[in-house]
Amino acid sequence: MAILYRSSLLYHGLMTAVYHVHRRERFREVAQWVPEGAEVLDVCCGDGALTGYLDSSVRYRGLDQSPVFVARARDRGREVEHFDLRRASLPGSQVVVCQASLFQFYPDVDEVLGQLFDAALQRLIISESVKSLTQSRWSCLSRIVAWGTHVEGMTNDHFRFCPEGLDRLFHPYAAHLRHAREVCGGRDWLYVLDKQPSRGIAREEI
Ligand SMILES: C[S@@+](CC[C@H](N)C(=O)[O-])C[C@H]1O[C@@H](n2cnc3c(N)ncnc32)[C@H](O)[C@@H]1O
Repeated sequence: MAILYRSSLLYHGLMTAVYHVHRRERFREVAQWVPEGAEVLDVCCGDGALTGYLDSSVRYRGLDQSPVFVARARDRGREVEHFDLRRASLPGSQVVVCQASLFQFYPDVDEVLGQLFDAALQRLIISESVKSLTQSRWSCLSRIVAWGTHVEGMTNDHFRFCPEGLDRLFHPYAAHLRHAREVCGGRDWLYVLDKQPSRGIAREEI
C-alpha cells in the first residue's frame, strides 16, 4: 500500500510514546526561530501541528506525502498540500522548516539537506531526532516502531542519526550556522541556518 505512514492513529500513538511532552517542546523551540510575519514552508509537516505554535502573523504552508496526514490537516483547517520530496522540486520560501524527517531519506540525506537549504530564502530550521525506539534493546519494540514509521523509499527502517552524524551532515554549512543545540531532553538536535552567512557561530551549547 502506498500510504506512507501505516495509519495516522498508529503514528500519533508512536510519536506520543516517543516524545511525551517533548514534542510540544520541540514545536515551541522551532517556532521561536520563525520571525513574525514570515512565510514558512514546513516540509514533511505531518498533520501541520506546528501551525499551533507559530505567531498568528506567520503565513504557513505545509507539505507532506501522506494522504492521511494531508486530509487530517485539512480537516483542522491547516494549509497543507500533498507533496513528495523524492519526486518534486521544493518551492522557495523565506523560512523552511523540516522536523524529525531527514532520517527517512538515508542514505540521500546530504542531497535532501541541500534541497532544503536551496529552498530557504532566508532561514532553514531543522530538528532531528538522535534517540529513537527503533534502537531499543527490546527487539520486539524496535521492530514495531520501525514498522510503524516506515515510509516508501526508506532503505533502512532502523536508521536514525547520532549527534556526530548530524554534526558531519551540517559541517559544509558551518558558515551559515546560526544556532545548534540539543532540545527535548536530548532527543533532538535543533539547527538554525541563515542564508546570510553567520559570523561562524557554531554549536552554541554542546
Ligand atoms: C516523523 S514524521 C514528522 C512529521 C512532523 N514534521 C512532526 O514533527 O510531527 C515524518 C513525515 O515525513 C513525511 N514524509 C516522508 N517521506 C516524505 C516525502 N518523500 N515527501 C514528503 N513528505 C514525506 C511523512 O509522511 C511524515 O508525515
